[in-house]
Amino acid sequence: MDKFIINGGKTLSGKVKISGAKNSALKLIAASILADDKTILRNIPKIEDVNIMIEVLRTLGAGVDVDLENKAIEIDPGTINSYEAPYEIVRKMRASILVAGPLLSKFGRVKVAIPGGCNIGSRQIDLHLKGFEDMGAKYSVEHGYINCIVDSGDAGIKLSGAVVTLDFPSRGATENIIMAGSLASGKTVINNAAREPEIADLVNFLNAMGADIQGAGTECIVIKGVEKLKGTDYEVMPDSIEAGTFITAAGLCGDGVEIENARLENLETFYSKLKEIGVNISIIDKNNIKVESPKKMYRPINVSTLPYPGFPTDLQPIITVLLSIVPGVSIVTENVFENRFMYVDELNRMGANIKIDGHHAVINGVEKLSGAPVTSFDLRAGAAVVLAALAAEGTTEVSNIYHIRRGYEDFEEKLSSLGADIKKVN
Ligand code: UD1
Repeated sequence: MDKFIINGGKTLSGKVKISGAKNSALKLIAASILADDKTILRNIPKIEDVNIMIEVLRTLGAGVDVDLENKAIEIDPGTINSYEAPYEIVRKMRASILVAGPLLSKFGRVKVAIPGGCNIGSRQIDLHLKGFEDMGAKYSVEHGYINCIVDSGDAGIKLSGAVVTLDFPSRGATENIIMAGSLASGKTVINNAAREPEIADLVNFLNAMGADIQGAGTECIVIKGVEKLKGTDYEVMPDSIEAGTFITAAGLCGDGVEIENARLENLETFYSKLKEIGVNISIIDKNNIKVESPKKMYRPINVSTLPYPGFPTDLQPIITVLLSIVPGVSIVTENVFENRFMYVDELNRMGANIKIDGHHAVINGVEKLSGAPVTSFDLRAGAAVVLAALAAEGTTEVSNIYHIRRGYEDFEEKLSSLGADIKKVN
C-alpha cells in the first residue's frame, strides 16, 4: 500500500496550476451519454474517480478514448447496449449513480446499485428517485439494485417534464434531474436546486449539446426537454476545492505561493473566512492569485458548512488544519454530512487540541503540530492530514493515500514543486 512520507517545516513558494474540477468532469462524462454522437472533453483531471467514471461508461458499452498527454477524452455513446451500473463500480465511487438520469432520459430504463454508506456518513439517493418518479418513472428495489423504468421501458418512451421540489439542495439530485429533464417531453422545473458552479458547468455543457436549460446558479432551474442532443467539444472548469486546498497550504506554511486558475469567484465564502483569519491573499487577475507570507497574527474564527454559496463541506477538514494552529478557540460546524470529523483523531495524534461535540469541532489552537503516523480516511480528510504534515515538526507517514488519488491530480508532485519534502513509498 502506498504511503506518503512528509518531512514538515519546509516553506512553500513558487507557482502551482489548478487542474480540471473533479466534481464537474464526472458529471460531464455521465452527461455525454445523452448525445447521439461523439463528445470531446478537455482539461480532464488525471485522477482515480475519472478512471472509475470512464469504467462505468465502458461497462455500458460506450467507446471512450483517453488522450492522457492532452488531458482529453473522446466519448462515443453510440455503442451503449447496457443500462446497468454494477455494484462493483458504484461501491468504489458513489458518483457513478449520475449515469441514472442520462440513461433514463435517453433509453427509458436504468438499473443502478444502491451506493450504501461511505466514510463521511450514510448518503441517501431518495431525492434522485423522487425526482425520477415525479417525471413518470417507476422504480423497485431488488437485491441491492434500483430498477427504474419509464412506463414499459421501451426505448422511445420518454420521461415527462414535471415540477420537482427538493427537500434539500442536493447537488447529485439536481444534476441527475437536470440530465433526466434534458430529453424529457415538456418542461421540468427544479425548485430548491443546488447552486454550485459545477452545476452551471454541467448546464453550459448540456446547452452546448443543444439542450434548453435556464437558471443554473439559482435555486430554480428550468429545463425544456429537446428531441436530441449532439456531441460537443468542451473544457472542464478548474477545481475550486483543489484551489482551496493549495490556498490553505500556502496560508499554513507558504511564503509567496502563486495559484493559477484559482477562480476566487467560486470560493467567495471560503475566501472571506481566510481573510477573517488573516491569510494574506492578493489578486493578480481574474484567475490567478498569490498567497503572501502572513503579515500579522492569525485569528480564530467560526465556520459553518452549508450548500453553495455557503462554506463548502469539502474544505471543512482543510480549514480545520489551519485553525488547529491559530491561537485561541475556533468552532467548525458541519451541516452537510453527518460524519465528517473522522480525521480529527489523526490531527490530535499530531498534537492538535480538537474536541468533537455533535456536529461541532471545538478547536483550541496549539503552537505547533508534530509528525506522527496517520491515516487518510477519505479524499478531503487525506488532503487535510497531508497539509497538517507539511506544517508539522518532524516526519509524518500518511497511509491509505489512494483516497487522495481519487480527487487530486499529481498532489505530491505539485507540493514538491513548491518546495515540500514529500515522497511516495510502498
Ligand atoms: C457532492 C460532491 C461532494 C460534496 C457534496 C456536498 C460530487 C461527485 N461530490 O456530493 O464532493 O461533498 O456534493 O457539497 O460532486 N442527500 C439525501 N438524499 C439524496 C441526496 C443527498 O439525503 O437523495 C443528503 C446527503 O446524504 C448529504 C447531503 O444531502 O448529507 C448532500 O448531498 P449531495 O449534495 O447530494 O452531495 P453529492 O452530490 O453526493
